[in-house]
Amino acid sequence: MKKQILAPSILNADFLHLSKEIDIAEKGGARFLHLDVIDGVFAPSISFGANIIYSIRTYTNLFLDVHLMIENPSQYIADFVHAGADSITIHAEGAIHLHRLIYQIKGHGIKAGVALNPATPISLIEPILSDIDMVLLMTVNPGFGGQSFIKEVLSKMTMLSHLKSSKKYSFAIEVDGGITPREALWCSQQGANIFVVGSYIYYKETDSEKLQAMKNIKKS
Ligand code: DX5
Ligand code: ZN
Repeated sequence: MKKQILAPSILNADFLHLSKEIDIAEKGGARFLHLDVIDGVFAPSISFGANIIYSIRTYTNLFLDVHLMIENPSQYIADFVHAGADSITIHAEGAIHLHRLIYQIKGHGIKAGVALNPATPISLIEPILSDIDMVLLMTVNPGFGGQSFIKEVLSKMTMLSHLKSSKKYSFAIEVDGGITPREALWCSQQGANIFVVGSYIYYKETDSEKLQAMKNIKKS
């Protein structure tokens, strides 16, 4: 069985007590912290930027998995690297020079991921699959936590996994949006190995038992 990685997203966390929220993720066995940067243009809400990520970096050694949902990401890559990102994932939609952007990220010595919205086909990134460390399949439309999982993305996941094994690519497959243990199991069965989980954990009251339930996802 391949490594399953839990990546709590703090988008719905209590920002007044962020350090406590991060403690809960760490104690629950998370290895990644998923950081959703949204600019209100690429996707319809505004979250936080590099300064918050810098503060988080001073507090935790978790792998900081930065998901950029912003226009013109190229302009801000260096800021997020200096803030302490361990990986930066950019969206394929609208990125005219996607290959260049990937190497801009990798040039800083960190991992590069590419995200696809639910309606975006895998074929859009097929030519660059050997260049990337991770494919993030959005299982909701980007912008908010707490939305329902879009089941149709599962067939895309199957397609991506087949491509990965037939061409012997090494990228990880991350899923993001509407994930609870049930959806994580479905995704795991289709080859996903990094599970972003936001509101399931960080909704009103954080529940560390829920984190434990996420951690126990097995590929069956
Ligand atoms: C949505 C973000 C997600 C979101 C996940 O734009 O990319 O990471 O925070 O939250 P849940 O798990 O609530 O869908
Ligand atoms: Zn995300």
